[in-house]
Amino acid sequence: MKSFTKHFRDEFQYHIDHKHCLVRPMSEARPLLNLEIDGRPLQVKPGSTVIEAAHSLGIYVPHFCYHKKLSIAANCRMCLVQVEKAPKPLPACATPSPKA
Ligand code: FES
Repeated sequence: MKSFTKHFRDEFQYHIDHKHCLVRPMSEARPLLNLEIDGRPLQVKPGSTVIEAAHSLGIYVPHFCYHKKLSIAANCRMCLVQVEKAPKPLPACATPSPKA
């Protein structure tokens, strides 16, 4: 029987070899996005949502079905926001942050 450490090392090596590792080297890190909310500039990680960006600035976006620890449902439409170049208001909880 393998020791726990040996098993873990083998398992870790498997994930590295098969590129299943979620941690990327800094050289592969994606740059931050620059955007502006209510005229206030900020930088966010690519893939973060508009509601997360607004909350990081201390801007409250009313929401009902959004919770940061739950999957995104985007059903209630309480968090609709105006996004530049979008033809209609979008749900801040489900919209990825656009570039400024
Ligand atoms: S909080 Fe419900 S749609 Fe965004």
